[in-house]
Amino acid sequence: MSVTRSVVLGSGSYLPKRVLTNAELAAQVATSDEWIVQRTGIRQRHIAADGELTMDMGLAAAKAALDHAGIDAQSIDLIVLATSTPDNTFPATAVSIQAALGIHHGAAFDLQAVCSGFVFGLATVDGMLRTGGFKRALVIGAEAFSRILDWNDRTTCVLFGDGAGALVLEAQQQPGTREDRGILTSHLRSDGRHKSKLYVDGGVSSTGTVGHLRMEGREVFKFAVAAITDVIEDAFRATGYTAQDIDWFVPHQANKRIIDGAAHKLGIAPEKVVSTVDLHGNTSAASIPLAISVAVQDGRIKRGDLVLLEAMGGGFTWGAALVRW
Ligand code: UT7
Repeated sequence: MSVTRSVVLGSGSYLPKRVLTNAELAAQVATSDEWIVQRTGIRQRHIAADGELTMDMGLAAAKAALDHAGIDAQSIDLIVLATSTPDNTFPATAVSIQAALGIHHGAAFDLQAVCSGFVFGLATVDGMLRTGGFKRALVIGAEAFSRILDWNDRTTCVLFGDGAGALVLEAQQQPGTREDRGILTSHLRSDGRHKSKLYVDGGVSSTGTVGHLRMEGREVFKFAVAAITDVIEDAFRATGYTAQDIDWFVPHQANKRIIDGAAHKLGIAPEKVVSTVDLHGNTSAASIPLAISVAVQDGRIKRGDLVLLEAMGGGFTWGAALVRW
């Protein structure tokens, strides 16, 4: 029996021009290239220029994904932007992107699940495409995390970067087997008991300010590997696939040690792991589509490949998806 699946038509990304190296950071706060590389795997990150907005980065990634898919923006009827760093409190940054693309139909909205935002966005769009209300969607992750960092706090400012990535998805009829193209399964979790371990100390209804990112890094780290492997095992159970069946593992890029730890625990071979954390740092909701874009462009991810995505972040939130390209 045929089923509707959300099939990936194209991917794209954008990185701001300015590259901030570990050596430059070491000149500003008490850190070193050696500490950052050893503890995180990060060597550099990109930083948005003054006046460069989340909307600008998301728009550039969206245009690149539309070009890659070879489709016209007018055929898009749904835009979901995952971000924790919107241009304004409202309206949603997604509507700015929608307007800049010249789209005056369909729906556009922002979704906030911090570093898990892209997986939450994919799952949301998948549901909306499969129920038939929409035909073609852009799922974008775009972040200007440099604007919410405390640049005097070495425990956080070395970890994050700016950027954007996007996927174009289309509702397509597929045979209804696990060999189908498209999103095969997605699993989302959150547990607000951990909300004070990774948060921003400002907000509209509390302080009336934007605030700065605060994190108990070690606590997040401890939770991450167990949570990630748990939700991925749910994805395996739902499809009958195992770690051996995966062609590419594209995790949220927070820390090389978390990525390697999760891959090892799950039995995913190191050569199947797509890692961009060294070049991009942690770009929160943008990290997965940025990494996908790199691996599609360099020819690793190809049509028919089985791709495993996962993320974990503030809330805590976490999730995983299995997608056949
Ligand atoms: O995307 C959302 C999810 N976020 C994450 O996944 C981040 C998860 N956490 C992490 O990646 C790691 O916990 C960190 C990279 C943030 C920290 O690594 P760690 O191995 O957990 O180090 P730590 O926090 O236990 O700190 C070890 C030491 C401390 O010094 P003392 O107390 O041992 O003297 C820190 O003060 O390293 C110190 N330290 C630094 N030293 C140099 C912390 N940050 C720095 C720094 N440079 N930038």
